[in-house]
Amino acid sequence: MPHIPLKYAPKLIFYGSRNYFTSRPLVISFEVTLSCNANCVHCDLGGGVKDEKRMSPDELAKIYNKFKSPVIQISGGEPLLRRDIVEVVEKIKHNKFFPYAILVTNGWLLNRERFLKLKEAGVNQFSVSLDFPDERHDDFRAIKGLFKKLNTVIPQLAKGADGSIVLNTAITSLNVREVPKIVETANRWGVCISFSVYTPLRTNDESLRVTKEEDISFLKDIFEKCKKREGIYKSVVNSPQNLDGLFKFIRDGEIPYCQSGRRFFVVRPEGELNPCSLHRINFSNQKDMIKGFTKKNKCGKCYVSIRSYVEVSFLKLLWENVSLRVLNSN
Ligand SMILES: C[S@@+](CC[C@H](N)C(=O)[O-])C[C@H]1O[C@@H](n2cnc3c(N)ncnc32)[C@H](O)[C@@H]1O
Repeated sequence: MPHIPLKYAPKLIFYGSRNYFTSRPLVISFEVTLSCNANCVHCDLGGGVKDEKRMSPDELAKIYNKFKSPVIQISGGEPLLRRDIVEVVEKIKHNKFFPYAILVTNGWLLNRERFLKLKEAGVNQFSVSLDFPDERHDDFRAIKGLFKKLNTVIPQLAKGADGSIVLNTAITSLNVREVPKIVETANRWGVCISFSVYTPLRTNDESLRVTKEEDISFLKDIFEKCKKREGIYKSVVNSPQNLDGLFKFIRDGEIPYCQSGRRFFVVRPEGELNPCSLHRINFSNQKDMIKGFTKKNKCGKCYVSIRSYVEVSFLKLLWENVSLRVLNSN
């Protein structure tokens, strides 16, 4: 992960605290397009969206400035399908580390030139999805040649990336036994890796959930090794608390009372707000969303990154996301 120099910390801490205590979001996910060049087995999106209305970079920045969340995700669909993606990042960013910007991508359209431009514009973390340690990734995502491409591009970019590339693996029943090999792939490419867990909310496909006892205990062993940062698992960046949450979600099948709408939400391409990408209910402002959705919401059917990272106590959140990196940088 890139280190945050001390001079950038006050703004992150100020807006983090303000937003936490005033029910404003800690993370906003800008889904800048719902079109995607992939068609993943575990996802409801895939293919092009016809006549999509998209906010301009200036309009997106205007929405951001109403909330000033300390962290933003630029996601989709596939965000790199937007030709103006560099400008989107430039307009939203206030300085190098505010907001802390994570671009979530399948990496098919990533090359050195684009990577450097996006980094220069202010992307702090490139979260590149990886579901398998070989060509099965192509079948899962319906992009022929994707694994081969990542296998070439990611090691090249990793060299000058200052730790800004982090692979992201959503664990399913199909890839659970591949986790060690996926981690080895991250190590070979010279990047870190983060886990999330499959939710059936996108496709209603219960068969992709990890439910077999032997798979659950296989994962438990791996998560314990990650917590101890043992061997190949040194490159796993999930915190111990986060791994415990992921494990609880797998074991129990849910963690109720999600705070989507309050602690985080999604901005759709046309600028409407959704509580999350799994509850596509449009709101024009956050106040109505909290009243009309969050206050009644009991949903616990996902524990994807955006939710899991904001569901720790505020002090833990600050410690994990700001202080540790600031201390590490000194
Ligand atoms: C929806 S994609 C959008 C960004 C980009 N196109 C990509 O593939 O990374 C964001 C992340 O959601 C994950 N994802 C998709 N469907 C999921 C599901 N049902 N459960 C958990 N994660 C899922 C993907 O693996 C990916 O890492």
